[in-house]
Amino acid sequence: MRVYFKTYGCQMNENDTLYMMGLLEGKGYRIVDDPMDADVAIVNTCAVRKKAEEKFYGKLGELLKIKKEKGLLIGVGGCLAEKDRGKILEKGADFVFGTKSYPVVDELIERALKGERFLYFDDHLDDVIWNFPRKVSGHHMWVTIIYGCDRFCSYCIVPYTRGRERSRPMDDVLKEVKMLAEKGIREITFLGQNVDAYGKDLKDGTSLARLLEEASKVEGIERLWFLTSYPSDVTDELIEVVAKNPKVAKTFHLPIQAGSDRILEKMRRRYTRQEYLELVEKIRSKVEDVSITTDIIVGFPGETEEDFMETVSLVKEVQFERVNIAMYSPREGTLAWKLYDDDVSKEEKVRRFQYLLELQKGINRKLNERYRGKTVRIIVEARAKSGLMYGRDIRNKIIAFEGDDEMVGRYADIKVTKVTAGPLYGRLVWIEEPERVR
Ligand code: SAH
Ligand code: SF4
Ligand code: F3S
Repeated sequence: MRVYFKTYGCQMNENDTLYMMGLLEGKGYRIVDDPMDADVAIVNTCAVRKKAEEKFYGKLGELLKIKKEKGLLIGVGGCLAEKDRGKILEKGADFVFGTKSYPVVDELIERALKGERFLYFDDHLDDVIWNFPRKVSGHHMWVTIIYGCDRFCSYCIVPYTRGRERSRPMDDVLKEVKMLAEKGIREITFLGQNVDAYGKDLKDGTSLARLLEEASKVEGIERLWFLTSYPSDVTDELIEVVAKNPKVAKTFHLPIQAGSDRILEKMRRRYTRQEYLELVEKIRSKVEDVSITTDIIVGFPGETEEDFMETVSLVKEVQFERVNIAMYSPREGTLAWKLYDDDVSKEEKVRRFQYLLELQKGINRKLNERYRGKTVRIIVEARAKSGLMYGRDIRNKIIAFEGDDEMVGRYADIKVTKVTAGPLYGRLVWIEEPERVR
C-alpha cells in the first residue's frame, strides 16, 4: 500500500502527520510524494482562516479527480475535519476523522478499504505515549506537550477543533526526549497552543520551566524551543530558565494580536497593552539579547484607524524580530462571529496588512544590521531552494551559506557577510566534526 500525505496549518498538525506516517510505515505502508502514485491519500487540514479552508477544498477537488480516474482512498483529518465533518464526506472523501483520532488512522484506513464510508471522532490521544511510532528524520523534532486550548479568544476556532487543555505527563515526555536523542535528534520544540499552561491540569508541580530543565540534561540534546506562549501565562520561573539554561533558545513567541486595549478586550485576550509591554521589558531585562516575535490580526470587527495606529505604534515600540500578520477571518461558531459584523472592508484589511508588512521589513533590516561582520554559531538545518545551506542561531535567526548536505545537524560558525530584511548570508568558518554527531 502506498500512502500520500498533505498537511496544512501549524506545527501541531505537521507533528500529528509525522505520527501517522510512523504508524503507517510500521504497518508496511510506503509514503509517496505524488498522489498519482498512491492508493490512499490522507489530508491533515486547518480551519484557522477561510483561506486555509479554500486551499483544502481545492486540493480535495484534485484528489477526487484522481480517485475517479484510477481509484484513490481519501481520508481527511485535522481541524477543518472537526468543523465541516459530514460536508467533507458528501463531497466525496471516504472517511473524515477528528484531531484526537489520528492515532488509529491505520484502523480507519482498514475500514474504508472494506468499502465503508464514515465519520470518526473518538478520542485516542492517550495512545500517544513516548514510544508511539513516528517518523523521525533530520536533527530536529516537535513534541506536543499540551493538547487543546481553554482560552477562547473571541475570533479563534482552535478551542472548538482541538478541545480542552490536557497535558502529557512529564515523565512520558522525557522518555520521548531520550528516545529521540538516541536516534540522533539534537533540537526539540515543545508544542502547545498555550504552551505555558503545560502541567497546570496535572496538579503535581509540572511546569514548562521544569520540563525544559530536565530535558536539557538529556545527553545529545543541544537546543530546546517552545511554542506558543500566551503572554499573561509566562511565569518568572520560565523567564529564569530561558535566561540561565544555555540549551534553551533565547526567544519568545508572544502573540499580541492588537495594540489597542479596546480591541484586545473584544478579542477576549486577557492582558492590556501596558501589561504586555511590561512583560516584554521584564523578559529583556532578564534574558540577554533575547528575540521576541509576535502574531497580529488586522481588521478585527470595529477596528478603527485609531485602533490600528495603536498596533502600529506598539510594533514600532517593541521592535519585534518577526511579526506574523493575518487579516481577520470570521470563524463560524466563535464569539466574534456571533457578536460582531465583519465590518472592516477587504481593501482596508489589505492596506493595514501591507502597511505593517512594510514597517516590519524596515525594522528587520535595522535589527539584522547588528549581525553584520559577526561570527554566529548555528546548527545546520537543510538546503534551501536557493541551493545554499542554512541553519539558525539560538535566537532563531536564519543564516544561509555555501555548504554540503553532510553538514546537516552539525554546529557551524558562520561569518555574516550580507544582511537583508529576511535571512542573513555568510561564509562558513568552522564546522563541528561529524563523529560528535550521532
Ligand atoms: N495559540 C496561539 C496561536 C493560534 S492560531 C496564540 O494564542 O497566539 C495562530 C494565529 O492565527 C493567531 O495567533 C492569530 O494571529 C491568527 N488567527 C487565529 N484566528 C484567526 C482569525 N479568525 N482570523 C485571522 N487570524 C486568526
Ligand atoms: Fe486561539 Fe487564543 Fe487559544 Fe491561541 S490562545 S489557540 S488564539 S483561543
Ligand atoms: Fe490550523 Fe488547527 Fe493548527 S486550525 S493552525 S491546524 S490548531
